[in-house]
Amino acid sequence: MGVNRGWRRGILITFEGVEGSGKTTQLTRLAKRLREDGHRVVETREPGGTARAERIRDILLDAKAENARTEPMAPASEALLILAGRSQHVTQRIQPALRDGAVVLCDRFSDSTFAYQGYGRGLSITLLRRLNRFATHRVTPDLTLLFDLPVSLGLARRRRSERKQNRLDHETQRFHEKVRQGFLKLAARHSQQIKVINARADPETIAAEVDAIVRHFLAKRRKSKVTRRRPTIQKAHRR
Ligand code: TMP
Repeated sequence: MGVNRGWRRGILITFEGVEGSGKTTQLTRLAKRLREDGHRVVETREPGGTARAERIRDILLDAKAENARTEPMAPASEALLILAGRSQHVTQRIQPALRDGAVVLCDRFSDSTFAYQGYGRGLSITLLRRLNRFATHRVTPDLTLLFDLPVSLGLARRRRSERKQNRLDHETQRFHEKVRQGFLKLAARHSQQIKVINARADPETIAAEVDAIVRHFLAKRRKSKVTRRRPTIQKAHRR
């Protein structure tokens, strides 16, 4: 974290978790509350977020059984497609919004790549981090909310929902378990950035927890901005 902060006035908050964790619902709710508080908010998602990146998403998540049988997607191909979409999304949408001072709420981002392609598929996390830096121009989340729940619960929720199943929804429970454990490892390693939320709770309780974390983060950020400005003011007085 903390790279390339010079040009950016906005904030990037990412929402992560296994399938069926309820993160998308919480993102919409948080966006509404932040707008009511007067923030400019951009809601976006990955894979996707721009017209071109959404087309890459279609290729990535296409669940047609005949494609899976005749030509399964190679893990490296999957990772590179995700990163290609991210590069487009960051350049065209996230960076301009951050420059403009918006609060960008992104449904999945780099930590999904480390969890799914790294811990899930077994690709090198070091290599993924390097490629990710290249794709994002080192844009990193200021805050990540990780919605954690047992995989069996998430997958069952997903099956019950109206939403169409995607290619990764059809992966084995073992794969999704590796992804969940991967997310938790990332959270333990980057506890300043990634906050774990119990996604088993009811939506109201989760929304209150999200609110508390984000408000605390925004207050801390305001305070650190004031502290950073103070020396300049004192200098001006001394003259
Ligand atoms: P979702 O929109 O339901 O979260 O689905 C997006 C899918 O894409 C989900 O199965 C996770 C997968 N994905 C990755 O495997 N790697 C990534 O870096 C991202 C952003 C998503």
